[in-house]
Amino acid sequence: MRHHLSLEYSMLSNIVDELANHGWSRQPLFVPAALTRALAAECRQRSAEGELSPASVGRGIGQEVRETIRGDHIQWLEPGQSEACDRYLDIMEGLRQALNQGLYLGLEDFECHFALYPQGAFYRRHLDRFRDDDRRAVSAVLYLNEDWQPEDGGQLRMFLADGVEHDVQPEAGTLVVFLSGDIPHEVLPAGRERLSLTGWFRRRGNDLF
Ligand code: OGA
Ligand code: MN
Repeated sequence: MRHHLSLEYSMLSNIVDELANHGWSRQPLFVPAALTRALAAECRQRSAEGELSPASVGRGIGQEVRETIRGDHIQWLEPGQSEACDRYLDIMEGLRQALNQGLYLGLEDFECHFALYPQGAFYRRHLDRFRDDDRRAVSAVLYLNEDWQPEDGGQLRMFLADGVEHDVQPEAGTLVVFLSGDIPHEVLPAGRERLSLTGWFRRRGNDLF
């Protein structure tokens, strides 16, 4: 137990350090394989039951589905839907607290959706921030795809400082965290179905002040 807790602690502090120093972090094996598998099974089941909807771009009345920009299908998570989802939300609550303690970001909550990219789908280069809403501060994506090969495509490509591009394989159990307003990124066309849980830690809205 002690061993487990200290491992977990070193992973969280590693994420905090990398975010502070580079604006992003990648953690392989962020969640246990059994949990990743349960989440993947749930995503596929929700999809089979027709619960995922084509994702839209923009917000409010400017919101529309545009498959030439993004082709994934999503469903938002709510607490109390399943044991696996609740465990994941608990883990992310731990990460939220670590980020607040280490970086003073004042993150208030975490919103998160399943995302399924059918074969051939992609998401063009963008920033995870709406023009009229800057509450999203830190993006966090957990991948759910076992045995992803480089030739399967579907990499997350991040555009870092000085023209450096960095690709992340969407392999099961890997978590990518990055500053939502700082790092433009895209999802390359997926050669096979690609599953993830994509979420955002948010600050308090300005309208509350
Ligand atoms: C997003 C996004 C990245 C990924 O949903 O905004 O950029 O790797 N996802 O799934
Ligand atoms: Mn994004």
